[in-house]
Amino acid sequence: CGCRCVSTAEFQQRTHINQTYILVLPPFLAYTKTGRSQRPENEENPEFWRSQAQKTLQSVLDRKLNTNVAKNILFFLGDGMGITTYTAARILKGQLQNQTGEETVMTMDTFPNVGLAKTYSVDFQIPDSAATATAYLCGVKTNLNVIGVSAAARNGVCKSQKGNEVTSILKWAKDAGKSVGIVTTTRVQHATPATSYAHSASRKWYSDADMPDAAKRDGCTDIASQLLKNTDIDVIIGGGRKYMTPKGTKDPEYPRDYSSRGKRKDGRNLINEWQSMKIGKVAHYVWNKTDFDAVDPETTDYLMALFEPGDLRFEAERDPNMDPSIVETTEKAIRILQKNPKGFFLLVEGGRIDQAHHAGRAFMALHETVAFDYAIAKGLELTKEQETLTIVMADHSHPVTFNGYPFRGQSILGKSPLWATDMLPYTTLMYGNGPGHKITNGKRPDIQTKDYVQLSAVPTESATHSGEDVAVLARGPMGHLFQGVQEQNYIAHAMAYAACVGADQRHCQGQTEASVLHSTFTNDRNAAGVARGSVALLGSLLSVLLALAVLV
Ligand SMILES: *[C@@H]1O[C@H](CO)[C@@H](O)[C@H](O)[C@H]1NC(C)=O
Ligand SMILES: *[C@@H]1O[C@H](CO)[C@@H](O)[C@H](O)[C@H]1NC(C)=O
Ligand SMILES: [Zn+2]
Repeated sequence: CGCRCVSTAEFQQRTHINQTYILVLPPFLAYTKTGRSQRPENEENPEFWRSQAQKTLQSVLDRKLNTNVAKNILFFLGDGMGITTYTAARILKGQLQNQTGEETVMTMDTFPNVGLAKTYSVDFQIPDSAATATAYLCGVKTNLNVIGVSAAARNGVCKSQKGNEVTSILKWAKDAGKSVGIVTTTRVQHATPATSYAHSASRKWYSDADMPDAAKRDGCTDIASQLLKNTDIDVIIGGGRKYMTPKGTKDPEYPRDYSSRGKRKDGRNLINEWQSMKIGKVAHYVWNKTDFDAVDPETTDYLMALFEPGDLRFEAERDPNMDPSIVETTEKAIRILQKNPKGFFLLVEGGRIDQAHHAGRAFMALHETVAFDYAIAKGLELTKEQETLTIVMADHSHPVTFNGYPFRGQSILGKSPLWATDMLPYTTLMYGNGPGHKITNGKRPDIQTKDYVQLSAVPTESATHSGEDVAVLARGPMGHLFQGVQEQNYIAHAMAYAACVGADQRHCQGQTEASVLHSTFTNDRNAAGVARGSVALLGSLLSVLLALAVLV
């Protein structure tokens, strides 16, 4: 009868016969899946699982607390990279290497510390990237759509911004003498990178042309202009040329495309201004891969690289001759920043995972996530775990689900072997809401494979975000601070403590807590660690004496 004639509401059991599965379906229909489970044979041996688990157990037992002061912070932010995306991308990463995929170990899977962050904003249960970035970069939860200002400010109201600015860990790190950078796959004025350097009552004020007259009158400035003004950023890599140049300026890459032309009404050319601000330093502005490749990190003080008028292309659609990958941009940034003996803070954003999900394009979202994981691998390769705190987290999740009992090794972008009661197949990845909602004559359409937009239950132009907690992964000095279920704004405080930047200086002044002191003695036997411990011990004794004196 072929395959179209069978469907089921409920899947009851499956058994395997020579790797071909019989799905036994109620009430009496049997449907033989033609696809095979690519089950690795060694997994049938219980010793496989026992020895694998024992190896894992030993490596966990062998772990030492790393209580060093973090010289560097490498902060990887997957925009919209919820847990479902994370798992599905892991499978895709393996499948792109011809593995079954589920057992693949991503680079981020190797981080020893894992926690969850609660992402709600002050005003909404489900947040956006501006509110969340203000939480994890500035340490303060705020309202939807605002950047680098507290919840006392109102979305889009310039007057409410004054006095409510909050600064980010990028500034704290710069003030502590470290080099700082941002790498993103979106425009550098987009919510996530913008929050590291700007204060704006609206995330949409990319250039002055995007601001209402009232906001300009009240003294607010656009995000692009703040890129030059607030913090001296050593490395700036992403897209967003059009917000930097006067209205009508032809784009060097797309001179005939009107939408790519400069936007600024104030006539400023921020790229030229940036270059003249850096006279006397080795500063490079580049907009294509040839010039980017020619930048020698050993001799470069400053780099601004803007590869597109707006956001960069999806990794799967990138022209490798014109634009570097996120792996290449991460590498260049680290090589420039790590020349500073005081260390660096680098924000690397996989920014288009989110944008692909908004469009219901799981294929793109997962490929962006795989590229992001390769960038994390490059980051670990170029830094030392003893001195670099590496964090991987998402800002918020998306309403993508992973469902339907697919076989082991089945394409993560494929269909469930089971059909729905409407006699139609469905993909294992689908959305709660988004543009993929299509019901014609009361029926879902059959699945198209090319440029497929995964089904959504509810029609919306763009998928919304979703509100469940996101994973926080940490490795390196004080990585154990990133455990448990925490508010998202805690992340900025824990990173700052680990690196001893910002207001909380305890970790480098020896005023550590007893538990940290203990771990310093038991796990960190190098001279510096003992010296720090001794100072801490003295500090504790002194505070006890002081406390006694006050009591007396
Ligand atoms: C995976 O298999 C395909 C088809 O056999 C082959 O073309 C491709 O090079 C393989 N990829 C890897 C990473 O081994
Ligand atoms: C890259 O940019 C430089 C500087 O504008 C330009 O001279 C060069 O032609 C560009 N390369 C390509 C391949 O467009
Ligand atoms: Zn989004």
